[in-house]
Amino acid sequence: MQVEQQKNQLAINTSKLNLWYGTFQALFDIDLKIKQGIITSMIGPSGCGKSTFLRTMNRINERLDYVRIEGKVDIMGENIFAPEVEILQVRKQVGMVFQRPNPLPISIRENILFGHSIHTAGKTSKTEAEEIVESALQQVLLWDKVKDRLDLKATALSLEEQQKLCIARLLPVKPSVLLMDEPCSALDPKGTEAVEELLWELRGKYTILIVTHNMAQARRASEECIFMLMGKVVEHRETGEMFLTPEHKETADYIEGRYG
Ligand SMILES: Nc1ncnc2c1ncn2[C@@H]1O[C@H](COP(=O)(O)OP(=O)(O)OP(=O)(O)O)[C@@H](O)[C@H]1O
Ligand SMILES: [Mg+2]
Repeated sequence: MQVEQQKNQLAINTSKLNLWYGTFQALFDIDLKIKQGIITSMIGPSGCGKSTFLRTMNRINERLDYVRIEGKVDIMGENIFAPEVEILQVRKQVGMVFQRPNPLPISIRENILFGHSIHTAGKTSKTEAEEIVESALQQVLLWDKVKDRLDLKATALSLEEQQKLCIARLLPVKPSVLLMDEPCSALDPKGTEAVEELLWELRGKYTILIVTHNMAQARRASEECIFMLMGKVVEHRETGEMFLTPEHKETADYIEGRYG
């Protein structure tokens, strides 16, 4: 019931979003409405702007001084570009995971507490810290595996475990949206399956937007799917429908592997 209610609300709502890298335009009039609490996949050939779109959602693109953005982005009903909004606040609301797991070369425990401490200025008791670590690792299905070795360096874990840890460390600050940019591309099939399983566990509690080049993964692991081409959204529909009866020829060509 709660998930049903959430579905009617938007986690991400963009209107006329345009982005330029210098004089090169990478996103054109993106109007996307991404529902809360579900998994949405984003597909499209290399260079079509998937990562650019994701990076705009948590404002990391703005690190580059030659990026220019026009248009509106509301996340959980709030305009992320409003002058009174702080970037740190946006990052708290919107967590991101990348292609290659990138844990810090410190212990598992410290990895989980690191992001949290930035947002709380380090005011956490020892008991509280233990609870945070356990809860985050439980949510990513890693707790039983690592509970006896929380002081182990995170980089000593398998790639699958590292990627789960990278998801876990986002959770203590209670984000609403998790962005995942090809999170399984460095993993073997077993690791991929484990991370997909995890996505289903997290669904409902978080809104997940996952970029993937793997059509089977988009089909299996998402409820809605967005197809992009050359900086534009071509189609955004329920995943099953899009794969069964794509509305546009470009979508059909892409999902049938005729290009890119
Ligand atoms: N930092 C940057 N500076 C300049 N141009 C960039 C930058 N990042 C991306 N681009 C360009 O913007 C376009 C979109 O790139 P983007 O990385 O968003 O595509 P993508 O869909 O994620 O591709 P891939 O599937 O290969 O990851 C490409 O033409 C790319 O060359
Ligand atoms: Mg990309």
